[in-house]
Amino acid sequence: MRVRSKLTLSLLAGALLLGSHTPALASGPAYRNAWLPVRVRVNDLLSRMTLDDKLGQMTQPERLGITDPADVAKYRIGSLLSGGSSQPSPNTPVSWADMYDGFQKTALTTPLGIPLIYGVDAVHGHNGVYGATVFPHNIGLGATRDPDLAERIGHATAEEVAGTGIDWNFSPCLCVARNDRWGRTYESFGEVPELAVSMSSIITGMQGRSLKSPSSVVATAKHFIGDGGTTGGKDQGETTLPESELRKIHLPPFKAAVDRGVGTVMISYSSWNGVKMHGQSYLINNVLKGELGFKGFVISDYNGIDQIDGQKGFTPAEVTASINAGIDMVMVPFEFKKFIDTLRGEVQAGHVTMARIDDANRRILTKKFELGLFEKPLTDRRLTSTIGSKDHRALARQAVRESQVLLKNEHGVLPLNKHEKVFVAGKSANDIGNQAGGWTVGWQGTSGPVTPGTTILQGMQQASKNVTFSKDGTGIDKSYDVAVAVVGETPYAEGKGDRPQGMGLDQTDLDTLKKLKDSGVPTVVVLVSGRPLDIAAQLPDWDGLVASWLPGTEGDGVADVLFGAYNPTGKLPVTWMKSADQQPINVGDGQTPLFPFGYGLRYRKHF
Ligand code: GLC
Repeated sequence: MRVRSKLTLSLLAGALLLGSHTPALASGPAYRNAWLPVRVRVNDLLSRMTLDDKLGQMTQPERLGITDPADVAKYRIGSLLSGGSSQPSPNTPVSWADMYDGFQKTALTTPLGIPLIYGVDAVHGHNGVYGATVFPHNIGLGATRDPDLAERIGHATAEEVAGTGIDWNFSPCLCVARNDRWGRTYESFGEVPELAVSMSSIITGMQGRSLKSPSSVVATAKHFIGDGGTTGGKDQGETTLPESELRKIHLPPFKAAVDRGVGTVMISYSSWNGVKMHGQSYLINNVLKGELGFKGFVISDYNGIDQIDGQKGFTPAEVTASINAGIDMVMVPFEFKKFIDTLRGEVQAGHVTMARIDDANRRILTKKFELGLFEKPLTDRRLTSTIGSKDHRALARQAVRESQVLLKNEHGVLPLNKHEKVFVAGKSANDIGNQAGGWTVGWQGTSGPVTPGTTILQGMQQASKNVTFSKDGTGIDKSYDVAVAVVGETPYAEGKGDRPQGMGLDQTDLDTLKKLKDSGVPTVVVLVSGRPLDIAAQLPDWDGLVASWLPGTEGDGVADVLFGAYNPTGKLPVTWMKSADQQPINVGDGQTPLFPFGYGLRYRKHF
């Protein structure tokens, strides 16, 4: 059994000893009796629910869509979410927990007192919270080839999420990114299903051995199915594949997630062979719920049902199509009243059966009972202190070390040593926002001091006193033994990160690199990016190259590799193109890459 963090074990022991874990004995309705099997409690509760109670359970507004908190009770809302940029103000762990408890207390005032389940995108740590530990994005975790590390990251993330009251994480993305032009390539563990399958251990970390554990949250396998296989890497685009290929490339990670007991699955915006996934009954009902035996509940993506007919907004036909396709809860950020009215009308018209409504409710309520929400609906504030903790940051630093991929190292330019006079340049050398990337205290992320952490430069300065920094490279001269340029991409998320045109370095970086090249000083490039970039033309000017991906807040993990405190072990999770016009380029497709899938150098001897 994975040794749980000391805090989790003490929480469990305390609960058992103090008996607070001992559920109330049978008094009152069966669904309130925690001694009874979940199945019995669900059936009892269902029998007491009105149609409106049931419709509310299937509705997930964005918290910003709740202009009157009383609406949470009035419309029997069963779930809320904070989207990527939906943070309370001030953005602190305590105000998150207060926000969650406030909504929850309102939900508990309804006649049946069914607690809310609240979802966030904690896709690389509890990244929406200022001060949280931000881990490397999934592409970097894929480079570690370390499922045990992923599980520990899942658990640490769950502790921080639960410390703000939140019980549901829209993560991990188990997408298999086949075209690096896609803006969500960094949310993928890599280009082959085997990586997402092995790194799905992060789900076990998040959900723990039991959802009832105070530090467990429900995970989400997303986005079902084929989001990483769209033509041209277009986000929310069209995946044209024979079913055999779809099953071979994109289905195994979801089977692995279901086998691990993942609590929820989120549907992809993309289409398969011309049909939007949000209306894909065969793949959701027959394959996911039937063949794979998925017993959790299916959530749509944000306004995802609106896309079924290709027109703005949603229609009664789209509501019916999505629910009958097997979607159990709809993420309808602002139009939740219209959604509830529309679904009621579709049930009353016989277009959606009560059996379907009851099945969706059964799935949703089962997770709420398994989470223990009926017994402990409010934030467990003992976990709030884990947010941004030393232990979590140390784990993140280890993840950063293991995620670095050494792609070039000539004339022994690496590792650096503290006697060398080192010149550091580049727009991402001293920029937490750039090294964290998208989904960081805001949906798109942003350059600059977006959240507390250690920049790559600060990590280097901790390793050596002999480090000089000049962002644009001004001041480089022959007195320096080596130059390190930290360059790459500025933050983005989803479609805003699609790169249908060039995939090279921006002019700022090229100008910086030219200064270093003209100086004749040996140069190491550290590439901070969400994907491989088109760098073949510049590579000959570089003596060393490290793919750093999007390391998150613990930039000292990069310095650990640069200075040899850690001998790099990272391996490419994606094939590195020779040029953008090779995209899509994947292992086994017969093309000749710049660096092949799985490539990664080590230092000849440990220093
Ligand atoms: C987004 C993403 C999805 C995320 C959801 C809620 O559009 O596609 O990954 O979980 O909305 O933020």
